[in-house]
Amino acid sequence: MKLTLAFAATAAALATTNHGQSEQVSLVDEYKHNVQTGIETFWDTLPYPATLFSTIEKRITETIRRTTNNAVDLDDSGSGSDSDSDDDDDHHHHPPHRRPPGRGHRHHGDRTKTIYEQIKESKYTTKFAKLVEEHDEIKSLLDDTETNHTIFVPTDRAFDRIPHHPKDPPSKEFILALLKYHALPGLYRVPRILHSDTLPTELSLETLGGHAQRLRVNLGLFFTLRINLYSKVVAGNIEAKNGVLHAVDGILVPPPSQAKLISLLPGSFSTFSLALEKTGLGEELEKEERKSGGTLFAPTNRAFRRLGPAANAFLFSDRGRKYLKALLKYHVVLGETLYSDAFYKGKKGDDETKNGGGTGYWHVDLPSLLDDKAIAVDVKRWKGFVSITLNGFTRVVFKDGLASDGSVQVVDKVLIPPHKHRDGPPAKEEENWENISEEEVVARLQPYVEDKEEKNEEIRDL
Ligand SMILES: *[C@@H]1O[C@H](CO)[C@@H](O)[C@H](O)[C@H]1NC(C)=O
Ligand SMILES: *[C@@H]1O[C@H](CO)[C@@H](O)[C@H](O)[C@H]1NC(C)=O
Repeated sequence: MKLTLAFAATAAALATTNHGQSEQVSLVDEYKHNVQTGIETFWDTLPYPATLFSTIEKRITETIRRTTNNAVDLDDSGSGSDSDSDDDDDHHHHPPHRRPPGRGHRHHGDRTKTIYEQIKESKYTTKFAKLVEEHDEIKSLLDDTETNHTIFVPTDRAFDRIPHHPKDPPSKEFILALLKYHALPGLYRVPRILHSDTLPTELSLETLGGHAQRLRVNLGLFFTLRINLYSKVVAGNIEAKNGVLHAVDGILVPPPSQAKLISLLPGSFSTFSLALEKTGLGEELEKEERKSGGTLFAPTNRAFRRLGPAANAFLFSDRGRKYLKALLKYHVVLGETLYSDAFYKGKKGDDETKNGGGTGYWHVDLPSLLDDKAIAVDVKRWKGFVSITLNGFTRVVFKDGLASDGSVQVVDKVLIPPHKHRDGPPAKEEENWENISEEEVVARLQPYVEDKEEKNEEIRDL
């Protein structure tokens, strides 16, 4: 059974309950709200994420291992040395239409036909074509010749990878969001795609301040181009009159929230997840109505272990909880979303959307939730390699995790908050906060915790 069946059923059900013109406005508002809940519900109810996340987790672990073991301090992107075994799929050795981009030789497309026409006519994409057919907005987008578009088209086999879930068919809003997430404004062919770490899509989200949700790109074994870690480009650069198509072997699902993402990757983040739960910070962040994205610096389990048994025992005790919370707050940035090749600040329109792409270097200071103490970020890129360094010495070991409410940048060391009454990032000699004692934790975090207590007392005194 296929998800398409559920899609079709939902679309049909909604068509019969469709309202008149007068309700258009409220439907728009509702749409915005429902996209969000639709995405979250999807991740909560469908069984697909379980297998998806074991794939994602594997890739993250591999990338981190490579990043931390290699003398070369670089991430996967563009390195061309992705050492994964590709055992998430069984068709690695198979037919020509599954060849990596650039190697396929019969996929040049037809420049007299639009993207829409080609999807409709291909025998490999009948399921995606059916979905497009049901959504006029997408249909006209892909048929529009005023501007160029890029689209990632899941093959019929991609749909087979999603189990059918009869009880909870995805909402109409979710399906529209899903379709938009496969379409990009502008032309992105290989090799241009390879010079990107992330790509903007047609899906804009309230929770990202109205900015485009992005796709993550990396190069795998044998120059396989991978989108969002789990979806492989099986035929690239198929030309059309109004842009270019790339066939992918996995449906690109709009990602869940930061907190949800973390909770779905226990092999890497169970300690961080527990910490978010114990301090109540996770719940606060979920409740916080996110209107303009954010960046979460997520320490791995190893990052916590590095602090040593004494520090962990203390931080995870009742006495240590407020210190743990202060420590975690230094890992959370609201309102500014950092990707290695893009930056969203505030809402779309009144913002500054810096493009960190290309070669060279850029710097940004991101205010954390810990008294606005900043995290200094340096992004360096040269010849397709990228590195992100925090406060001058902590490297991001897995970059550009995607979430509906921001980005997740993974660190293998817990970030040390600066001395309370000193400006700027912590000193370099503090790089190794390893096997520290309870006293050291308290000494560093006490000033942040004290202030809060004083404030609470003032409130009580009133
Ligand atoms: C689309 O891209 C092609 C190049 O592939 C270019 O010649 C054409 O002018 C573009 N069309 C629009 C509408 O920008
Ligand atoms: C921290 O403790 C571990 C385990 O006892 C040890 O292997 C490691 O070398 C220690 N690190 C430092 C910096 O003392």
